[in-house]
Amino acid sequence: MRLKDQVAVVTGAGSGIGRAIALMFAREGAKIVVAELNERSGIETAELVSELGQESLAVRTDVGDKRSVAALFAAIDKRGWPVDVLVNNAGTAEPELKPLQEVSDERWDSQLRVHLTGTFFCIREALLRMVPRQRGTIVNFGSVAGLSGLPGGTAYAAAKGGVIALTKSLSQEVAPLGIRVNCVAPGWIDTPMLGNLPEKWRPGMIKNTPLGRIGTADEVAGVALFLACDLSGFVTGQIISPNGGMYR
Ligand SMILES: NC(=O)c1ccc[n+]([C@@H]2O[C@H](COP(=O)([O-])OP(=O)(O)OC[C@H]3O[C@@H](n4cnc5c(N)ncnc54)[C@H](O)[C@@H]3O)[C@@H](O)[C@H]2O)c1
Repeated sequence: MRLKDQVAVVTGAGSGIGRAIALMFAREGAKIVVAELNERSGIETAELVSELGQESLAVRTDVGDKRSVAALFAAIDKRGWPVDVLVNNAGTAEPELKPLQEVSDERWDSQLRVHLTGTFFCIREALLRMVPRQRGTIVNFGSVAGLSGLPGGTAYAAAKGGVIALTKSLSQEVAPLGIRVNCVAPGWIDTPMLGNLPEKWRPGMIKNTPLGRIGTADEVAGVALFLACDLSGFVTGQIISPNGGMYR
């Protein structure tokens, strides 16, 4: 087991990639903290983790709200659990593609808030617990959009690009403290987030993906597992993109 007796905090673990990560990490021996905005889906994931024989803690969390994030970590402290792994997976797609000149302040703010500021709030709390122990791994979530750009999805792409730059900066800052920070930047992955996009886009997504299909949440979770555990002990500051070859 690759994460035996470790505690992994997974944000947005009520759905899609986050749920796949929570379950894969639990199968690898980790205790799972499900930090999810949607209380019901968070509890469901925690129950699935328990069915796998691992302890879990579900805390309704809005990663973009620093008080909510502080309460999440206080609940972990109250359990007497350390934080070995933090996966900043929570996210939300833009409702539709839109030229930048039509993007509202609210839309811009909400994308930056959940992806970039949310990642910052969670990392800040996690580091307060990781630094004294001189150990920990952090896995952030970017996107191919943050590498190649996404016309019409500029706020999402900018937020994800910010997460990538945050990963590179922070990895150098905390490497001497025994903490590794990496980023997963997926291509098109079959999750409820993708289900919200127009069905007519699907053939284009497949055509632009050299492997000729959309990826699965488990294929992304496998990359997150690699980055979270000792298999990647000499890897930090890296952006790994499970994308079927669409962006190199
Ligand atoms: N699916 C894709 O094609 C794809 C591609 C590239 C990157 N990503 C990224 O992967 C991550 C997971 O996406 P997914 O496809 O599994 O999406 P999803 O919609 O299936 O799951 C996202 C989860 O995050 C939760 N969430 C949203 N806002 C939150 C908040 N403020 N606080 C806490 N939880 C919140 C949602 O409730 C949901 O359970 C996201 O960061 C996304 O941007 C996805």
